[in-house]
Amino acid sequence: MKGWMGKFKVLSLLGLVALFLAACGKENLTALDPKGVGAQKSLDLIIIPTVIMSFVFLVVMVLLVLALIKFRKKKGQKDFIPKQVEGNKTLEVVWTTIPIILLIIIAVPTVIYTFDLADDADASDHLNINVTGNQYWWHFDYEGLEIQTSQDVYIPVNSKVYFNMKSSDVIHSFWVPTLSGKLDVNPENENTFFLDAHEEGVYWGKCAEFCGPSHSLMDFKVVVVSQEEFEQWVADMQNFDPETAEPATDAAAQGRELFNENNCLGCHAIGSSAAAIGPNLTNFGERSRLAGIEEMTKEKLVEWIVNPELIKPGNKMTGKYPEVSQDDAALIAEYLLQLSPSEITTEDAGNGIEQ
Ligand code: CUA
Repeated sequence: MKGWMGKFKVLSLLGLVALFLAACGKENLTALDPKGVGAQKSLDLIIIPTVIMSFVFLVVMVLLVLALIKFRKKKGQKDFIPKQVEGNKTLEVVWTTIPIILLIIIAVPTVIYTFDLADDADASDHLNINVTGNQYWWHFDYEGLEIQTSQDVYIPVNSKVYFNMKSSDVIHSFWVPTLSGKLDVNPENENTFFLDAHEEGVYWGKCAEFCGPSHSLMDFKVVVVSQEEFEQWVADMQNFDPETAEPATDAAAQGRELFNENNCLGCHAIGSSAAAIGPNLTNFGERSRLAGIEEMTKEKLVEWIVNPELIKPGNKMTGKYPEVSQDDAALIAEYLLQLSPSEITTEDAGNGIEQ
């Protein structure tokens, strides 16, 4: 009976783990279903040692059980000491050589892949995106394209894209598990790595370095689109002029007035200017998530404008502007949600995220 209970516990634990992994998979937040070069190599490096270590574990366990059975004290054997084998050359050579070979099998791909993934010698031939990590959001500056954006970063499929990363405050870590491993984002130096996605979709990214009260909410998305869609997106973003773009509705126009009156532009740029105290809002209406985490609905956005502290504790927007009424916030939300210069939406990109 007891054995059954134990088995049941193990099975339910495994079930929970499987459920957890499946849930992660749905949101493209798993390292076990790679959709990029870095993630594929990382998974290979997980599998190789796991297989080897499982093999070693099995062999050691079998030998241990055999030894226990074969050399146990039998009835009538008083003070019996089995044959001693210390200093046996053959045995010493065998159990020294086998681990060396196994370690070499693990070390060779590990070293090769590590150097491969850190190699940025060809960075100037590819798209470069300068990333700034901020408490608790991400800024993306497309080198040479005059495109600034935040939170959702668009890249073309099957193409190496280099990310040059720096932090404006504390240490963060850039991690899109389905596309690649993680890399520290430091205030003092720039770290570079690449993403090379081989399937279109929206991939969930996380900050993987504890950076303050809203660290766990410092999420972002990598939107992988086809080469043509990417070119379209670049053109749309470049052609968007916040000065001349007419708001879609009267409410949105009123919202724009309030946006300017409340000095929102003091921190948030719309268009390609580099002001980066707060997230760039050029394509805010196209983002898959609000503040990186919440569902993108008008109600949530109003809540966020009225009291951002409720959604992201410790964020730098709190207290930086005059109090905004619910009605005013609703108009500002109207304005922000219609900011969508691009024809490419995240749905078009095969969005795996349930909105
Ligand atoms: Cu940024 Cu954790």
